[in-house]
Amino acid sequence: MARRLIDLDIPIIQAPMAGGITTPELVAAVSNAGAMGSLGAGYMEPNEIRITIRKIKSLTNKPFNVNLFIPEHSNSTYDLSLINKLLLPLWQELSDAPFETADFKPPSFDDQIAVILEEKVPVFSFTFGIPPSSIIERFKTQDTLIVGTATSPEEAEKLENAGVDAIVCQGQEAGGHRGTFSSQDSLYGLLTLLLLTKEKVKTSLIAAGGIMDGRSAAATFLIGACAAQLGTAFLTTTESGASATYKEALLKTPHLPTALTNAFTGKTARAIVNTFMQKLEGQAIPPYPIQHFLTHKLRSLAAQKNRSDLMSLWAGQGYPLCRPISAAALVHQIVEELERIL
Ligand SMILES: Cc1cc2nc3c(=O)[nH]c(=O)nc-3n(C[C@H](O)[C@H](O)[C@H](O)COP(=O)(O)O)c2cc1C
Repeated sequence: MARRLIDLDIPIIQAPMAGGITTPELVAAVSNAGAMGSLGAGYMEPNEIRITIRKIKSLTNKPFNVNLFIPEHSNSTYDLSLINKLLLPLWQELSDAPFETADFKPPSFDDQIAVILEEKVPVFSFTFGIPPSSIIERFKTQDTLIVGTATSPEEAEKLENAGVDAIVCQGQEAGGHRGTFSSQDSLYGLLTLLLLTKEKVKTSLIAAGGIMDGRSAAATFLIGACAAQLGTAFLTTTESGASATYKEALLKTPHLPTALTNAFTGKTARAIVNTFMQKLEGQAIPPYPIQHFLTHKLRSLAAQKNRSDLMSLWAGQGYPLCRPISAAALVHQIVEELERIL
């Protein structure tokens, strides 16, 4: 039997966003404002997760969420010669040094989980799959609420059967990686996904994808979501760890389209279309996480050199509505917009 989703003063969740965006200051500012902040810890080493959770706890005594990636097995014998040939000229635009890739070793999922259990957090969420039932049970015994991610009604059913307390329904409008864990991604838009999922499961649903303000959050509440999870809208807040170049791309080039691509990491994700994506379009891209490690240093170097044409500019379709304000001000504005409607 699923437990009730945590009682939030404001039914808005700042989405977990891995890669240094969800700083402790951002997470705490959102939670202190009465909504819920989330730490995207998927790429973090266990000790970094511990330090960051402690920092968040020092900044807020309100509920917050910690999020991990469910690991996937990749074929380590993949032939990298073709992709290296494609990436080399892009690297050479940024550096005279030989092409460098990141360490091909993701953090240990079991060690990440051990730290999150030890640190006892109010909410644990995950994407890209479902953790073993033993892990779900251990979080339940310490009263941590568990939230999974679905991109189809069928995935939501699997999450309900696994015993999660709430399900994030991620529409295809969403920025960043798709949480899909089925063999095929049906690319449901958010409203259809909510409607169809409501027919299949009783678990509380959290809406995600393209929600940028109180109006769009209200639309999802009208069809049964109990909370709205916003990622892109928080990227341009003062406390977000997004680089200045990334924030500028979101705020100053609202005419550029977004698209789903596997060019950056090998896993489908939505980003603002740029040269990197266009150059790799239609090429054989190694699967996640191999491509993530291959391109990681190149993308970091591009960010250091303010080269938005070679960075991964993750963004949802609603990004032209991003606001350059503090996280608390964004939460307050969304509440005002909601109150005007509901
Ligand atoms: C930059 C970025 C990073 C993201 N990283 C994660 C992540 O680490 N874990 C996760 O569950 N979802 C992640 N997401 C997806 C969000 O949870 C959420 O589904 C999405 O932001 C909602 O769509 P929106 O960006 O249009 O608001 C990320 C999204 C963005 C934009």
